Amino acid sequence: MNAPTLQGLNIQAPAYVKNAKLIAWVAEMAALCKPAKIHWCDGSQEEYDQLCQQLVDAGTFKKLNPAKRPGSYLACSDPSDVARVEDRTFICSEKKEDAGPTNNWMAPNEMRATLQPLFDGCMAGRTMYVVPFSMGPLGSPIAHVGVELSDSAYVAANMKIMTRMGRAVYDVIGTDGDFVPCMHTVGAPLAAGQKDATSWPCNAKTKYIVHYPETREIWSYGSGYGGNALLGKKCLALRIASKMGKDQGWLAEHMLILGVTSPAGKKYHVAAAFPSACGKTNFSMLVPPQAFDGWKVTTIGDDIAWIKPQADGSLRAINPEAGYFGVAPGTNHHTNPNCMASLDKNVIFTNVALTDDGDVWWEGMEKDTGVMPAHLIDWQGQDWTPQIAKDTGAKAAHPNARFTVAATNNPALDAAWDDPAGVKIDAFIFGGRRSTTVPLVTEARNWTEGVYMAATMGSETTAAAFGAQGVVRRDPFAMLPFMGYNMSHYFQHWLDLGARISAQGAQLPRIFTTNWFRKNAEGKFVWPGYGDNMRVLKWMIDRIEGSAQGHETAFGIAPQYAEINWTGLEFTPAQFDSVTSIDKAAWAEELKLHTAHFEQLAQGLPQELLATKALLEKRLAA
Ligand code: OXD
Ligand code: MN
Repeated sequence: MNAPTLQGLNIQAPAYVKNAKLIAWVAEMAALCKPAKIHWCDGSQEEYDQLCQQLVDAGTFKKLNPAKRPGSYLACSDPSDVARVEDRTFICSEKKEDAGPTNNWMAPNEMRATLQPLFDGCMAGRTMYVVPFSMGPLGSPIAHVGVELSDSAYVAANMKIMTRMGRAVYDVIGTDGDFVPCMHTVGAPLAAGQKDATSWPCNAKTKYIVHYPETREIWSYGSGYGGNALLGKKCLALRIASKMGKDQGWLAEHMLILGVTSPAGKKYHVAAAFPSACGKTNFSMLVPPQAFDGWKVTTIGDDIAWIKPQADGSLRAINPEAGYFGVAPGTNHHTNPNCMASLDKNVIFTNVALTDDGDVWWEGMEKDTGVMPAHLIDWQGQDWTPQIAKDTGAKAAHPNARFTVAATNNPALDAAWDDPAGVKIDAFIFGGRRSTTVPLVTEARNWTEGVYMAATMGSETTAAAFGAQGVVRRDPFAMLPFMGYNMSHYFQHWLDLGARISAQGAQLPRIFTTNWFRKNAEGKFVWPGYGDNMRVLKWMIDRIEGSAQGHETAFGIAPQYAEINWTGLEFTPAQFDSVTSIDKAAWAEELKLHTAHFEQLAQGLPQELLATKALLEKRLAA
C-alpha cells in the first residue's frame, strides 16, 4: 500500500500512532505549514543524538569538550531572540473580560485571521517535528498530554529533556485520548534551494505567542527561545493549564516543590511561588547549613506545580516537567551546589560564553575560582576579556542565558519526583523581591489572609528582565506573565478551593510569605539567603508542628528571634529586626499601592480580599 501523501509530502504516521484526531490534525497542519518533511519523534536516545548532530552540522550547536562537559552543547541565539516576549503574548478568550486586565487580548476570530497567513507556508524548506509529550508522570491522574508541531530541531531536542517525550505518550492517548495541540514555528520559511543564512533562524520582526484557553490551543510564531518555543512549559503547563484547573477544580501554579525530611525521618512537602529571577531553582535545591545536620531537602520541581485536590481533602502535587530550564548567570557552588553538580554532563547551554578549552562560563562562576577567565568567546561570538568587560560593560553570558538539563541529573532529586500520585502539600510559600517593607517571613492567620498576601505580592524589577530597575511590579502568585484567564477570577478560584476543602473538614496547607531581599541603609542585602533559607524553612515546620509560637504582626504571624536556629551564623537581634520589622509609614504607602492594584483588578475581585485589606489597615492603625 502506498503511503498517504500531500502535495508530494509523506504524511504517513508510524504504525504505533493510533490516535485518529492526532493523525488528522498533523495532516491539516502540514497542509497549512507546508514543511519539506515530517518527523514523528519517538523520544529515543538515538533520535536525540541525531538531532544534536544535525544542530552541530547547522552551526546551531557547538559540541563542548567531552573531557570537561560530556554530552553537552552550546547554542547561541539571535540577539533579537533571547527571552520570553510578554508584550507579544496573547490570551484569546471569546470575551475580553475573561482574559482580564493583566493579559493582552484579541478576539479568537481576529487572531486566527491574523495567524492564518503567517502560518501558511511557514515551514517551507524545513522539517516539521511531531513532538508528543506528557506533562507529568506518564498516565498520572494529575498529568496531561500535549503534542507540539515545530520546525525547530533545537525545540525537539530541548523537549526531550524538559518533558516525558516520545513513543510512550502515543500509548497514553491511544486511539481517542485527548491532547493539547501546540503549533510552533520559527517563522523563517526557506525558498526552494535556499539555505539558512543564520544558525538561529527566527523572525526578528514578527512574534506571536497565542493561547486559546477555551479550546485549549497554543500557536507560537517567530521565536525559537525558551518559553516562547518549548510550549509544554509556560504556555501549556501554566497559561492553558490554569484555565483547565479553573474549569476542573485544580491548580496550575508557578511553584517549585520541595521535600524536607527531618533527622527522625518525618517528611514535609512545600510548594513555593517566587517571581521569575528570584531564586526558585536555588531554593528547590537548597543545601541546609551544618546546624541542620540530618535534615534533608530534596527537589520535586523547580518551576511549576500541578496540584489536585483529593477525595480526603488533601492537595497532591506533581512537577509536570522532567527537566530544568534555568538561568545560568549567578549560579555557582555557593548559590546552588546541587545545580552545579547537575550541570556536569548532558546539558544544552544557551547564550553562555565559551572558554578556550571548549567549556562554558557565565558571570558568577568567578566566585568559585576566585579569578576571571583571561579570554572567552561571548554569547554573541565576540572575543571577551576582563578588560573588554571593564571598558564596554559587555557580558560574557547573556543575563537570561540558560541551561536545559534532565531532572535526573540533580543529586538532590526527591525519590517521589516521578510518582504518578504526586506528593501531599503541607505548606505554600509566596515570596517577592522587595528591598524594603515586606518582612523576612510571616504566616497567614487563615487561608483568605494567605490568598491576600499572594494576590498583592510584588517584586522589584531587575534590569535584565523587565526594563527599569527597582520599580515594584505586582506579580500576584508570581503568575502575572502566566495567567490564562482573568486574575480576579483566579483569586476567587483559590478562595473557593479553600472553602471547599474546609467544608470537608480537612486541614488546609499553611500559607507563608517570604522576602529574602531586604536591604540595609548601605543598599546591601541583610539576609544571607541561599542555604541559610533553611533556618526560615525550619521555623515553618515548627509552626506546622505547633512548636513555634511566633507573634502577631499586622502582616501575619512572625518568628521570634529565639525561635530561629542561629547556630553557625552570626545574625544579631538588631539585624533580625531590620529584616522583620513592620514600618508603619512604609506600610501606609504599600497599602496605597494595594488599593491601586485592586482598582486595576476591580472586575470580579472577591469581596473577601477587600475585607482582608480593611482588617490589615485596622491592625496597622492600632
Ligand atoms: C522561567 C521564568 O523561565 O519564570 O522559569 O521566566
Ligand atoms: Mn518560571
